Amino acid sequence: MTRRPAPSDKFSFGLWTIGWQARDQFGDATRAPLDPVHAVHQLAELGAWGITFHDDDLVPFGSTAAERDDILTRFRAALDATGLVVPMVTTNTFTHPIFKDGAFTSNRRDVRRYGLRKVLRNVDLAADLGAQTFVMWGGREGAEYDGVKDQRAALDRYREGIDTVASYIKSQGYDLRIAIEPKPNEPRGDILLPTVGHALGFIAQLEHGDIVGLNPEVGHEQMAGLNYTSGIAQALWSDKLFHIDLNGQRSIKYDQDLCFGHGDLLSAFFTVDLVENGFLSGGPRYEGPRHFDYKPSRTEDYDGVWASAAANMSTYLLLKDRAAAYRADPEVQAAIAASRVLELAEPTMAPGETLADLLADHTAYEDVDPDAVAEAGYAFVALNQLAVEHALGAR
Ligand code: GCO
Ligand code: MN
Ligand code: MN
Repeated sequence: MTRRPAPSDKFSFGLWTIGWQARDQFGDATRAPLDPVHAVHQLAELGAWGITFHDDDLVPFGSTAAERDDILTRFRAALDATGLVVPMVTTNTFTHPIFKDGAFTSNRRDVRRYGLRKVLRNVDLAADLGAQTFVMWGGREGAEYDGVKDQRAALDRYREGIDTVASYIKSQGYDLRIAIEPKPNEPRGDILLPTVGHALGFIAQLEHGDIVGLNPEVGHEQMAGLNYTSGIAQALWSDKLFHIDLNGQRSIKYDQDLCFGHGDLLSAFFTVDLVENGFLSGGPRYEGPRHFDYKPSRTEDYDGVWASAAANMSTYLLLKDRAAAYRADPEVQAAIAASRVLELAEPTMAPGETLADLLADHTAYEDVDPDAVAEAGYAFVALNQLAVEHALGAR
C-alpha cells in the first residue's frame, strides 16, 4: 500500500534531485532538462511541501540580471499558485571549474574572494524567499594529495569563510541559520569536515557558531561506514540538527543517492523513529523539513522520476507508521524494560552526591562481585527482533 503525503508532513525536495539529468562520470544525460516551474507544480501535486535549490539550479551560472529577474518572477508565481515553500537554499561552489580547488579553501585567494561573494549574493536570495536554512556543502573543499593542502591554513580559511557568512546574516537581520553538510569524499579525494563529528568539532571553533549547525545526509555518513541515526542523534543532543538530507546508500562506495529506504532499510526505520518519536528518554526533537536529497536512477524516464519522488515520501510515511506501532507495542515496552534501556537516563551519581561520597561508597566498588554482575544478559537481540518485525509490518 502506497502512502500519500500531505503538506503537513513537511516533505521537501532539492530541485537538483528530480531535475538531475543523469549525466555521470561515464555517460551522457539520459533525461531532458526540467523546467523549475514544472517541478514546483509536480511536487505540489504529489503532496510535497517545499522545494530547495542551489543558486545555479534555478538561475543558470552566467545569466544576466534581466534573465535572473525573469526566472525568479516565474518561479515565485509557481510557488504562489501551488503554496509550495522554500525552506532551504544552498550555493553551488563545486560545478564551475573556478572552484576546482575549492571555494573557501582554494589555495588561490582570488578564488576564495569570488566564492565568498557568490555565497553572500545567494544568502540575500535565500532570505528574500523566506528560507530558514542555508546549507553549505563544501564538496570541493579538500584535496587528492596530502602534500598540496596546508591543513591548518585550510581550516583557518574555512572558519573565516563560514564566520564571514554568518556575520553577514546577523548584520542583515535575516532569520536564517547555516547548516554545514559533511561528506567524506567525492568529488574530492578527501573532503574537509568529512563527518558529523568533524563538523561539530569545527563549529565549536567558530565565532558565530550560535547560528551554525548541521545538515547530515544519510549516504554521506554511510559512505564513511558510520551510523546515520547516531550521527543525527549527537547533532540533536548538541542542538545542532538544523536540517536533514534523506536518501539511501548501500555500503561504502561512491555516493549513490538512492531513494530513502532503498539502502539500509532497518537504519532508515530507526532514523524515522528518532525523527518522529524522539529519544526514548525525551529531550530535544527535530522539527525541521524532511528533505530528500537523492538522484532518480539514470535508468528512469520522467515517469520514473515522479514515481521515485513519490517513493521517498511513501517509504518515509510507512516507516513512520511502523515506528509508531513499535513504540506503542506493550511487548516492545516490556522488552525495553528487560533490556534496561531507560535506566541509562538515570544519572550515575545520586542527587547531591559528592566525589568523596562516591569514593566512600563500598556498594559501588568494594562489595561488587563483577563476575556475578556480568552473568546477566541484556536481551538486546530480542528487542531488535521486535524492531525488525515491526519494520516488516509483521506485527
Ligand atoms: C552530494 C550532496 C549535495 C548537497 C547539495 C547541497 O551530492 O553529495 O549531497 O547534493 O546536498 O549540493 O549543497
Ligand atoms: Mn549525496
Ligand atoms: Mn546532500
